[in-house]
Amino acid sequence: MKKKITILPGDGIGKEVTAAGKKVLEQIGECFGHEFIFDYATIGHEAIELTGNPLPDETLKKLKNCDAILFGAVGHPKYDNDPSAKVRPEQGLLKMRRELGLYANLRPIRLFDELLGASSIKPEILKGADILFFRELTGDVYFGERGRKNGNDTAYDTMIYSRYEVERIAHKAFKAAQTRSKKVTSVDKANVLESSRLWREVVQDVAKQYPDVTIEHMFVDAAAMKLIQNPKSFDVVLTGNLFGDILTDEASQIAGSMGMLASASIGDTVGLYEPIHGSAHDITGKGIANPLASVLSAALLLEISFGLKEEADAVIRAVAQTLKEGYRTRDIADASTLHEKLLGTEVMGNVVCNQLRMLVSVNS
Ligand code: IPM
Ligand code: MN
Repeated sequence: MKKKITILPGDGIGKEVTAAGKKVLEQIGECFGHEFIFDYATIGHEAIELTGNPLPDETLKKLKNCDAILFGAVGHPKYDNDPSAKVRPEQGLLKMRRELGLYANLRPIRLFDELLGASSIKPEILKGADILFFRELTGDVYFGERGRKNGNDTAYDTMIYSRYEVERIAHKAFKAAQTRSKKVTSVDKANVLESSRLWREVVQDVAKQYPDVTIEHMFVDAAAMKLIQNPKSFDVVLTGNLFGDILTDEASQIAGSMGMLASASIGDTVGLYEPIHGSAHDITGKGIANPLASVLSAALLLEISFGLKEEADAVIRAVAQTLKEGYRTRDIADASTLHEKLLGTEVMGNVVCNQLRMLVSVNS
């Protein structure tokens, strides 16, 4: 198979972790005889510094002409305490999602058994948890009308959804549920918000087309509580952009660390794959970031965009084996981690590649 992959390292640790993700893709190409052609483009703070624009036209053009995108992170601390900045790194990410029509954000919460102890949640509550979030990604308060009034002293953002936006992501969630435990939990705030009432109405309609799937509706406040109290009670979770953003950061604790969580953003054309973590400037340049979220994002890329299930499974098995042998980055280490098995970003990526080579040579 011959495919063009654009790498968008972005800011902060984005550069370090996508280097590992890319290496793993190259290793897969070598082991399974695929030709992956890589190209780079700029986004976020880096792009602002280079061009004044967080998503330059040249980047967008490249993204529209490739087969899949591996993305790192965007952000820079200098904007966090400057609410008046008009041009911001995150605008690049949001515009990219919108321009590429990436309306469905899949965030699998996969807990590797080896990391049961890495979470602050009790192992007996966690063991066996396996959740797939469908976060709507191109609507909601992220893209609704916003502004200031009253001489700048009042600000508003509009939470807005249209039927077709809810329908298309609901279908994706129900179809995924059919291949899993056949249960969808739709999360909203329909006791208060009109947009949530439309959300619930549409999800109820779509559910009728999937009689084999059980549908449950939950308010977002209750869902936030239940995720921690009983994560095993969830299978597929379907929710809007803002609620999905918040709940998946919370759910990352089920997987032990934000550094373990991958995501896929898909729509009708090219797919984009990225860790759910941010640019983490506090650890940037230290070479200690966990690259496994990017590596697992590469696995999602192989499976979803290229249909390479066997290759994707090989990546996941290589990660599992790496963890089984005791290798850890700092975020997932505990008192039992041997000093020589505490690895930096680059070496962790190399260890996964070695595991891949061993796995594939054993099977062939
Ligand atoms: C995410 C991030 C983004 C979001 C930010 C960086 C705009 O938090 O992908 O979860 O809120 O969607
Ligand atoms: Mn987020």
